[in-house]
Amino acid sequence: MLHPSLVSAVLLLAGSLGAGSTNTRNTPVEAQSLPHPQVLNVGGGQLSPDPQVINDNFAATTTGCPGYSLHSLTESQNGLTAKLNLAGAACNLFGTDVANLTIQVTYETETRLHVNIFDTANSQFTIPESVFARPKASGSSTAKNSDLVFNYDATPFAFWITRRSAPHATPLFDTRISSLPATPIAPVILSDNSTALDGFPLIFENQYLQLTSALPLGANIYGLGEVVSSSGIRRDVGTDGGVGTIQNDWARDIADPVNENIYGVHPIYMEHRFNSTTSTSQSHGVFLLNPTGSDILLLTPPNSTVSLIQYRILGGTLDFYFLAGPTPSSVIEQYSSIVGTPTWQPYWGFGFHLCRWGYPSLAAVKDVVARMRAAKIPLETMWNDIDLYQAFRDFTSDPVSFNGGEVREWIEELHKNNQHYIPIVDAAIAKEVNSTDIYDPYRKGTELDVFIKNPDGTEYIGQVWPGYTVFPDWFAPNALAWWTEALSNWTKGGVEFSGIWLDMNEASSFCDGSCGTGIDISNTSTPFILPGEPGNFVTEYPEGYNATISGPSGNITVNGTLTYGATDSASNGLSARGIGAGNQTGVELNTPPYAIHNANGRLSNHALATNATHAGKYVELDTHNLWGLMEAEATHKALKSVLPGQRPFIISRSAFAGAGKWAGHWLGDNFSKWEYMYYSIQGVLQHQMFQIPFVGADTCGFNDNTDEELCNRWMQLAAFTPFYRNHNVKGAISQEPYVWDSVANASRTAIAVRYALLPYWYSLFANASLSGTPPVRALFWEFPNEPELFAIDRQFLVGRDILVTPVLTPNVSSVDGIFPGRGKTIWRDWYTHDVVKAVSGSNTTLAAPLGHINVHVRDGAALLLHQTPAYTVEETRQGAFSLLVTLSANGQAFGTTYLDDGVADPPGPSTTVSVTAGKGSVKLASKGTFHVAQKLAEVTVLGVAKKPASVSVGGKAAKFTYASAQEKVVLTGLSVDLNKGTTIEWK
Ligand code: NOJ
Repeated sequence: MLHPSLVSAVLLLAGSLGAGSTNTRNTPVEAQSLPHPQVLNVGGGQLSPDPQVINDNFAATTTGCPGYSLHSLTESQNGLTAKLNLAGAACNLFGTDVANLTIQVTYETETRLHVNIFDTANSQFTIPESVFARPKASGSSTAKNSDLVFNYDATPFAFWITRRSAPHATPLFDTRISSLPATPIAPVILSDNSTALDGFPLIFENQYLQLTSALPLGANIYGLGEVVSSSGIRRDVGTDGGVGTIQNDWARDIADPVNENIYGVHPIYMEHRFNSTTSTSQSHGVFLLNPTGSDILLLTPPNSTVSLIQYRILGGTLDFYFLAGPTPSSVIEQYSSIVGTPTWQPYWGFGFHLCRWGYPSLAAVKDVVARMRAAKIPLETMWNDIDLYQAFRDFTSDPVSFNGGEVREWIEELHKNNQHYIPIVDAAIAKEVNSTDIYDPYRKGTELDVFIKNPDGTEYIGQVWPGYTVFPDWFAPNALAWWTEALSNWTKGGVEFSGIWLDMNEASSFCDGSCGTGIDISNTSTPFILPGEPGNFVTEYPEGYNATISGPSGNITVNGTLTYGATDSASNGLSARGIGAGNQTGVELNTPPYAIHNANGRLSNHALATNATHAGKYVELDTHNLWGLMEAEATHKALKSVLPGQRPFIISRSAFAGAGKWAGHWLGDNFSKWEYMYYSIQGVLQHQMFQIPFVGADTCGFNDNTDEELCNRWMQLAAFTPFYRNHNVKGAISQEPYVWDSVANASRTAIAVRYALLPYWYSLFANASLSGTPPVRALFWEFPNEPELFAIDRQFLVGRDILVTPVLTPNVSSVDGIFPGRGKTIWRDWYTHDVVKAVSGSNTTLAAPLGHINVHVRDGAALLLHQTPAYTVEETRQGAFSLLVTLSANGQAFGTTYLDDGVADPPGPSTTVSVTAGKGSVKLASKGTFHVAQKLAEVTVLGVAKKPASVSVGGKAAKFTYASAQEKVVLTGLSVDLNKGTTIEWK
């Protein structure tokens, strides 16, 4: 939500109001603080104001820790159980060593191995089953038939995972000290002048867990997030003594900074190993099921033959799942067996969505909808931000600017036009400001006891847009019923939404922890200046923007210079702060001894106090990262009852592993910069791995002003990402696609391609919901043996068949892109059907004038398309189908399309249309009970080398055209019943 530069100002201010300040906002009811067991030096941890940030050096945290030894082993067919005892004197590095651990190893499926190391007393926090249902073992998988093998040393305890097929190959995961380089690791001097030990024993303390595994030197690591990564989709493992990545996992409301913790938490990574001798590759995955705040480091010791991954976690247990792959997509699919497959999206959800923060009134929003139609730019769903609300309160609409009854009438009009409406829902619930103020969601929630509390049981108070607020406690027994009623009353009151947008749900709060007691509740002002207001004008433009020219990189039709160059002198500032974890007692809740690299410093900064309590049994310190996931689940369940029979459409900002079961995601507050358009690709790819495939960025950029050229390119790029929404910050120039003629044109072109491809998108998402298969793919996921693709994230694939090569820089009319397949795969231009003369294994330069996005179709594809894209998705669906077949070099192609009614929840009858091409024929076959009303009207086959003498459809001669340049046969005017299938033959 905040610009990074503002946050540093905020932190300074917050710092000056630190613990002990007399500011009343800083007087939460706090648990007793314990003295820190150790204070290490602050080197490298400059972002945290706390003194105990450890040095980021790779060997800094192993000082004096004894590790564990294994005994009392019981083995079964499906795994083993054993005890781990502390192997020497406790080191109490960042808490108290836990003397007795249990390890359980379960071969859950042939491709999934579960290694769970927990305190035998079971007092550490573990994620409750009600929040995250752990996967069940298949029962038939045994230690003998699993693809993965668990190996261990008893003393000092260490384990490593190998593939059954390659027992002597470098292990996939390896915690043995002996596997570390023979070269001694330079000792790390700690601030008390002691030296760190070499080696990395397991550390398991009440408030600190550490586990280190060897990776191949320079390993290809993907995932770990959410993050905007400067190294792209492939994470940086560092070189020769360097820490490449510190992935901090503490959900945080912040405007998309690079390499810092942001909104979501996903402790899953995939490693892709390439064997250059055999030119083959294998991927595997590692998931740590622990929602506690943590740092995950990727680093490479000096002179080392290995790189390392090191987990440093504030609590909980070491609950690891290993996935065998061995292809990238199979790792991702296997991950869905743990976290669940993504929720089914309604067909309309793939339409174009339009939003902004700062529409002043219903009249303004109506005008936008009308202008979209006048410009013939398809608008599927209109959204509203907090401008809709009365006094910034959830579940309201402003009686003046969004005048009451008219909202209902207007939304009903949208529905009549086959369009949709989505409003925002903020995480925080306004507190009534005095005894005459009646705000039902607050009143009812208090009655039903659904809000988060202070440790002494009093109401926990934070601060968000409406002023002082409370926060739903998703662990409270009545929370779901209360939330459902609030949503239901809202829609009954006129806000007849088709879906819900969940914002600020990290959860964000503008105080540093609790706003305290004795505050002036009636003060509803925000503690910083909103964008667009004096002191916080939106003055930035994209890189290369020149206000004095017209045309690309300037603004033609908009006077965007009103605020350009204006100075912004006022500083923004936030004011500042907040039972034992699981069954733990005596833990430091407010300032855990190890300070993770939360870039906001204290965990409570711009968030809830970590000692806030949930249902009297959990603390925020342990459950913080789960808030967004739990809100998404509650909203999903509520929508099922408010809109019965329909698929819940939900976009959530914060997420934890498994959130895709309930909601999609947008990539948060990005910037109107070319750089951020590029970052949007890695964000979309990351979330395919995280099983939240329905994801997209704020198109044209959120923070700052966009310009014509950036918005033109971005409207085209985002048309090939799953969630397609243009969204803008308050106070920035308008960026609806009709604002510039060239953007309007570019949008119409790209949306037409998108809508033609809707059956393909929808089928990809059906596969995701059925099997966890990622709809959008990094190039190497499809071509895993081509190392030149391992870091490509400026291009991507939609499914198997569509390659997108967007322009990501200003002022160019060509773009470089690689065509996977090293010359063996034929790629054809989407628009012209020409075969690309691609350079094998390296970049090919493609023409890319403004308004053109390069899209290529892979050979061997059979894509069922909507023949005539229309204004809305529903109207598009009512039209006929066309079929595009691209033959491979040996004359074959295959594709399936999944069709159903696109809305029913659970999904109702479906029909899968399979197309198989080979030996001069294309065969269509249908399976399923969904009646496909629309006919197949047109067939295009590319790759037919010679003009056929005749073509038949279902045995009857058909008229066709042939274009030799594209080796293209086209049949039009058909009326093939897709419920029955047919055969098209040429001779
Ligand atoms: C933060 C969200 O990330 C952004 O999209 C929204 O516009 C603002 N909150 C205002 O609600």
